[in-house]
Amino acid sequence: MRKLIVAGNWKMNTSVAEGVELAKKVSAYAEQKNLPAGKQIVIAPPFTHLAPVAQVINADKVILAAQDCAATKNGAYTGEVSASMLKGLGVKAVILGHSERRQYFKENSEILLKKIKLALEEGLDVIFCVGETKDQREAGQSLYFNVVKAQLVDTVFTLTKEEFSKIIIAYEPVWAIGTGLTASPEQAQEIHEFIRKEVAANFGDEVAQNTTILYGGSCKASNAAEIFAKKDVDGGLIGGAALKADDFGKIIDAR
Ligand code: 13P
Repeated sequence: MRKLIVAGNWKMNTSVAEGVELAKKVSAYAEQKNLPAGKQIVIAPPFTHLAPVAQVINADKVILAAQDCAATKNGAYTGEVSASMLKGLGVKAVILGHSERRQYFKENSEILLKKIKLALEEGLDVIFCVGETKDQREAGQSLYFNVVKAQLVDTVFTLTKEEFSKIIIAYEPVWAIGTGLTASPEQAQEIHEFIRKEVAANFGDEVAQNTTILYGGSCKASNAAEIFAKKDVDGGLIGGAALKADDFGKIIDAR
């Protein structure tokens, strides 16, 4: 079933104590709302917060996600955290392919596909991010469509249909992340529709209709409703506005 998801990517923010408090508030909000089936709330705190946050959230109401996982299963990889370690903490999903990981940590499609496969092997859902830069956007539609298509073709489109059913796509235009420049609802719809058509071309209509495609990039309480109202936008991946429980709650309520 196509799910409606509001996910908070906390990035490298909050102390452990602040993160636990934020998670408690989000969980209490989710409990009080009694969300309909098919609507999910996800939070992705930093690695250091996952174990204590897992203790304080209602796992039936809030899905715990990590912001990354290693491209290798285990072994001598100082500083890395594997998908199976995350699974052991109660983590249910992982964000992969975020533009910050691509830009600052040089993660390319080859590395990302390894991470995706290891996450799926552990039974984790994958929130896979794609999106074009400002220059690519300004070069015109055929270019930015092709950029996004290539990010999918080289990674999640190589999966089997069954594996792909565990993938949530997040369209996050790089020019909109943390900049205050949000894609207009029409800009979001245009590319979400394109992504869904490409999913249909690869996996068939039924899979495409069941694929959740999130929007991310300066999405906040004041603009979430109009973006989420578009027919191919199935919720959001929220950065800055996910760090305040009240703001995140308003975004959860936006659709
Ligand atoms: P902002 O909402 O802060 O622009 O971040 C979006 C994002 O990168 C979520 O993954």
